[in-house]
Amino acid sequence: MKIVVAYSSKEGLLEEYKFRYGSDAQPENIPPDFFAEGDTMETINAVIEALRSNGHHVVGMEANDIMQGMFERFHPELVFNMAEGLFGDFRESFVPMMCEKLNIPYTGSDPLTLAICLNKARTKEILSYYLIPNPAFKVFYPHEPIYLKDFDFPAIVKPVSEGSSKGIFNDSVVDHSAMAKHKIQDSILKYNQPVILEKFLKGDEYTVAVWGNGEDIEVLPIVAISYNSLPEGALPMYSYEAKWVWDTPGNPLEIFQCPATISAVQRERIEDVAREAYQVLQIRDWCRIDVRLDENGIPNILELNPLPGILPDPKDNSCFPKAARTAGYTYPKMLNKVVEIAARRYGIRL
Ligand SMILES: Nc1ncnc2c1ncn2[C@@H]1O[C@H](COP(=O)(O)OP(=O)(O)OP(=O)(O)O)[C@@H](O)[C@H]1O
Ligand SMILES: [Mg+2]
Repeated sequence: MKIVVAYSSKEGLLEEYKFRYGSDAQPENIPPDFFAEGDTMETINAVIEALRSNGHHVVGMEANDIMQGMFERFHPELVFNMAEGLFGDFRESFVPMMCEKLNIPYTGSDPLTLAICLNKARTKEILSYYLIPNPAFKVFYPHEPIYLKDFDFPAIVKPVSEGSSKGIFNDSVVDHSAMAKHKIQDSILKYNQPVILEKFLKGDEYTVAVWGNGEDIEVLPIVAISYNSLPEGALPMYSYEAKWVWDTPGNPLEIFQCPATISAVQRERIEDVAREAYQVLQIRDWCRIDVRLDENGIPNILELNPLPGILPDPKDNSCFPKAARTAGYTYPKMLNKVVEIAARRYGIRL
């Protein structure tokens, strides 16, 4: 099959940034977490090679303005979408929108689901409507007054539309209203978007890889996140520092356990809530879902990642590949399975 791997590389995102900001795009003006969602060429090439190893004719393309012309020239039969984009609240919908317009099948969720899942507030509103547990929250918009009456602290301040722990640092957790107000203002200014204030859940944390559609939705072995190896003083959370600063290939943190050692009952409860969230958000093909227990031990959904991180090196602590490996899927097998799942959904015979 002719497959295009549509990606957002760190280099491509830097080009986009420079194009938008011109001479203002000085490295010292760019926050350190700005390109956190871009993929390295190592990851992109590993994906391309994995699909090639299964006999597909694969071409990689940066998800940029010239991509439509490239699609029209290459005529892909399927687009493997891993493009996260850089600017705006609909950046993850760019490739699926183009595929919808050109009538090209693609892996993963549709533009609406990608846009909703990128907006933590909208996601939580839908989860709440369907009575799926998630931490209590409030949204704060730029240029609007901040009312905090009766909020239950401690709480965490997060930019509403980010991933990869962008904007989530150790000091994002706040203990009282004055601290929250300051952090909310600071975060709105820095990330130029609304923020959510969410009750901070102190229970155990898990991340759950789910794939498939309809009757064939399968939950992969659950990954438990443990915070024992974080430096002293670090809060028990998977912050930007924990993901990208303290955890390096040279000095990996022992942060994940897969399969998680939990009781069968607890496993079933976590799997159930993950499946339900997958369903109500109308996820397609695959997703990684973050779950944390509240003070009553009830699994709450923190957020859904319908474009899950897929770092190829097992040392890199990437959770979807880790869960898949535990279930017996090598990296190439995992990616080719995603292609199969998408192809089956479209009725394409491989
Ligand atoms: N309400 C909360 N209570 C407790 N911990 C939280 C809460 N919200 C976020 N965290 C911590 O911060 C981490 C990052 O938060 P979240 O998953 O919302 O951000 P993200 O940037 O979308 O992450 P990802 O890398 O999965 O895209 C979580 O894994 C968790 O450890
Ligand atoms: Mg997360």
